[in-house]
Amino acid sequence: MKTVKVDLKKEVDSSYEITIGSSFAREVLQKLRDEGAYFMVDENVFELYQDYFDHNNMFRFRADEHNKTHESVVSVLGFLFKCGARRDANLAIVGGGITGDVGGFAAATYMRGISFVQMPTTLLSMVDSSVGGKTGINFRGAKNNVGAFSQPQHVYIDMHFLNTLTDEEFLNGVAEVIKYGAIFDKEFFDYLSANKDKVIARDLDTLAYVVKRCCEMKADVVKKDEKEKGDRALLNFGHTFAHAIETDSHHGVKHGYAVATGMYLETDFAVKQGEATEETLNAIADILRLYGFDLSYEIEDRDLFIQAMLADKKADKKGLTLALTPAIGSCKILKNIPPQSIEDYFNNI
Ligand code: GLY
Repeated sequence: MKTVKVDLKKEVDSSYEITIGSSFAREVLQKLRDEGAYFMVDENVFELYQDYFDHNNMFRFRADEHNKTHESVVSVLGFLFKCGARRDANLAIVGGGITGDVGGFAAATYMRGISFVQMPTTLLSMVDSSVGGKTGINFRGAKNNVGAFSQPQHVYIDMHFLNTLTDEEFLNGVAEVIKYGAIFDKEFFDYLSANKDKVIARDLDTLAYVVKRCCEMKADVVKKDEKEKGDRALLNFGHTFAHAIETDSHHGVKHGYAVATGMYLETDFAVKQGEATEETLNAIADILRLYGFDLSYEIEDRDLFIQAMLADKKADKKGLTLALTPAIGSCKILKNIPPQSIEDYFNNI
């Protein structure tokens, strides 16, 4: 037998920068237009910021969890094809997490991958989905279970977009912000408690610090584990239960709100397994309630809920995997959790 090795170690440097500032989006969009980029723009963002865009080479997308689908990806691919986009094309994606995930996935597959930039316009997408290269869609009822790792060429975060977010959408992002403090940085967690009024008032300097700190923490994890073979799974604290809540509620509960309840329930589960302290559970409940999250959730369909948890991408044949916070500012992965112990937990609460 003969062996030929395909040596692919770091042939391509996929590093990129995240630029965080205020009121620079128009300028960046003009530059991208001058360079011949194509644009995928969230419909609401387009309505609010019409003078940032022209109609050429633009695909407007009505972002909704229900159209985070392969049909939407096909529409973006159709748009690129109709425009005659070639392999050297660049897709500028302007919008929240759903727009970013769908657009990023289309860019990752068009001509086997074209470059794209992310311009997130919601707090949630600024601190999470626009950074790290996870792109994808929901498939057959399971959340984000089809997709690709594909890094953007640049992430442009213009804090100014936060001024026009609804309160509901803003709070949707706050849950992910709190998650970073809970799993990585107690000082940041305490900062969020102490500065709640400034955060809620959307004080741009406070938010610029918050967004930058979250991006730093995320960049650090992604740098070490781009394809989630290990520590990147820590970012999923709260998400296993959250995905089940989203599925069970038919996406009536938004992602961030589901993550808030998920962080609380996963920590409660961890306490009952002897993996976290009561003090941690109380600290998590306190900060989430301080920001106005309602941590209760009435399961609609227990079977669907448990099934959704089992469909979690981190689950394998040995059982479920959960990212947990044993104490604020620390995190660990708990593997091989028998599905029965989760069922028992839900039967007893
Ligand atoms: N949202 C979790 C991650 O990007 O890994």
